[in-house]
Amino acid sequence: MIAPPRHLTSLIVVFALALLTFFIYYRPSIGDTISDHATSIAGVSGRSRVKAANATLGFGGLFVVSGPGSPRRSKLEQAAAVTELQLTIPEQVQWTGQDVLDFRWDNVTESKVGIGSVKAWLSHHLVLKAFLESGVETALIFEDDVDWDIRLRTTQVPLAQAAARTLTSASAASQYPWGHPDTWDLFYLGHCGDYFNDLDEGVGVGHHHPHHLTEIPHQVFLDPTLPDRTDLHPFTASLLTALNVPLQSRVLHRSKWPLCTFGYAVTRASALKILTDVAPPKEDIARNLIAYDAALLDGCRNAYKLNCFSITPELFHHMEGKSIIALEEETHDHKQVFRPPVDVAGFEQVWWRKETSNIGCGFWSGEFYYEYEESKLEGLREEARKGRCAKEGRRAKEGRR
Ligand SMILES: *[C@@H]1O[C@H](CO)[C@@H](O)[C@H](O)[C@H]1NC(C)=O
Ligand SMILES: *[C@@H]1O[C@H](CO)[C@@H](O)[C@H](O)[C@H]1NC(C)=O
Repeated sequence: MIAPPRHLTSLIVVFALALLTFFIYYRPSIGDTISDHATSIAGVSGRSRVKAANATLGFGGLFVVSGPGSPRRSKLEQAAAVTELQLTIPEQVQWTGQDVLDFRWDNVTESKVGIGSVKAWLSHHLVLKAFLESGVETALIFEDDVDWDIRLRTTQVPLAQAAARTLTSASAASQYPWGHPDTWDLFYLGHCGDYFNDLDEGVGVGHHHPHHLTEIPHQVFLDPTLPDRTDLHPFTASLLTALNVPLQSRVLHRSKWPLCTFGYAVTRASALKILTDVAPPKEDIARNLIAYDAALLDGCRNAYKLNCFSITPELFHHMEGKSIIALEEETHDHKQVFRPPVDVAGFEQVWWRKETSNIGCGFWSGEFYYEYEESKLEGLREEARKGRCAKEGRRAKEGRR
């Protein structure tokens, strides 16, 4: 065989490289359709760029439930500054004993809602009303102690929006990144788990099976920012495995049993329905509800008064304790803090990962707070805009992803 002239060889190499690059960059969003046709998987490879969500994550506004003088406020505002989110924090009122009494079932001895839960209920109401008064069409309501990933705006929300549009209204106009507000009532973007049934009945492998997912409307999608399965909250990891959801994927699905109201999106119609019908500001002992989140769960489940969707794993999760410092004090002083079962199950992992449950690259560990140093803020924003986790260098050194 006659060897081609040198310059021709290098031309061939250049051409081959160009072709390779073409395939790497223009690989369509990974579209493996899983053999079970009911579950289609869509998403992007790590290299692809999606268009970042806007400062209110594609909703009309981001409304925060934050009590008067909440110690969480400063950290929340710093996290929002780094992620470049625009928050609306309606002024809360100090609820009085009379407000609590007015809320309770008239025969108070039969009342089941605790004082703290009544006040939280009223605080959510205040924020829903502020949303309606603002005139915007949709809102994400969230509690002020939630954590999120620094890649929320650049990667996570755009992917979730695409899944939402596919599920609800693929042809929605571009001003509705989450689909037309007539086609959905509530998106649970932050929760402490939608475990498909009451936790007491069991969760995950050995209890749930793929049909529990395939029988309901759902959309599975790749998200490169998702922690490894072994780094997800034990209940979440087990549930995703039981439902046969591929690794590195989230699923947006019809809500089955969403717990907690860390972050939920509403429309004007659904906010009104919540205020007057699903969770009115007056206890009804016949409904046997002990908290606001239980009322919403009931609204999503019973006869689907509300058309709700949950994203699993969630994008917002409440931070464990006040801080790592508070946790250390607790360990040293053997102080006992009451934790609900989901927190108990996730506690050891939170401590080990130094991350909030189900959050990949969040604020809880503290290194993303800029403490009002403008130069640090700029650096953090730069990383966030690039959709990068600035902790990855440190993690590599520690031999962890
Ligand atoms: C209030 O409820 C308690 C417990 O069910 C009952 O014993 C009591 O008679 C009720 N009081 C009134 C005024 O209905
Ligand atoms: C973000 O997009 C939504 C939906 O189009 C819009 O209603 C909202 O005003 C936008 N937010 C900002 C800050 O531009």
